[in-house]
Amino acid sequence: MNNETTTNENIINIKDLKKKYDDGQTAALDGVDLEIRKGEFVSLMGPSGSGKTTLLNMIGALDSAEEGSIIVAGHNLMEKKDFSSFRSKEIGFIFQFHNLIPNLTVSENVQIPMLETDIQDEEMAKRANKLLESLNLGNKVDQVPTKLSGGERQRVAIARALVNHPSIILADEPTGSLDSTTGDIILNILREIHQKENVTLLLVTHEPYVADMADRKISLMDGKIKEE
Ligand SMILES: Nc1ncnc2c1ncn2[C@@H]1O[C@H](COP(=O)(O)OP(=O)(O)O)[C@@H](O)[C@H]1O
Ligand SMILES: [Mg+2]
Repeated sequence: MNNETTTNENIINIKDLKKKYDDGQTAALDGVDLEIRKGEFVSLMGPSGSGKTTLLNMIGALDSAEEGSIIVAGHNLMEKKDFSSFRSKEIGFIFQFHNLIPNLTVSENVQIPMLETDIQDEEMAKRANKLLESLNLGNKVDQVPTKLSGGERQRVAIARALVNHPSIILADEPTGSLDSTTGDIILNILREIHQKENVTLLLVTHEPYVADMADRKISLMDGKIKEE
């Protein structure tokens, strides 16, 4: 944490948020209240279908809600507008299945979030490759993702999530498709980033021991938050 002010500031403020699917038949989020402080590491558990991915998509403005309020890094996400600039500046997404683009190189994949900025091409490549080196992928920058192992791909996905120095990292079961040794490497990278960069980390996991690593544990049940 930098100082007292950032410690006390909520970077995520959600009140009575509701999200329905299937013409209102499925209440994916059914009145979510959640406050997360800047720099906090929060783990999110909950059974399959309890709304975890839906909630992350709301926070990252990948999807919009009908009811309630959601303010993230000072942006009112209930407004109907284009949030692509908000996303590229504030949010780093890490998914269970890395979601890399197969016909782009590792370096090009990491540069994607910078396309939304006015950084020059040469500088984009430099930044991406430097970050990849720090994640021990310096020798893979010109490879395509299909040539990489699962753990390497997830490290590329982490680099892509970090490249714009987002204030929030949303990690949706980032180790869910990896063996436990590789998963632990990925978790340690995320913890280190959280400690070093004062980034806010919201991590979805099914593993209690992973959830225990967080400053705070919450879970979703039937579209509502439970604090532990
Ligand atoms: N795009 C969608 N269309 C219809 N229903 C959806 C969609 N996305 C999620 N749902 C439903 O919303 C509920 C919550 O899903 P999700 O957020 O993916 O849960 P989790 O990530 O906790 O497994 C589930 O009942 C799921 O079937
Ligand atoms: Mg999910």
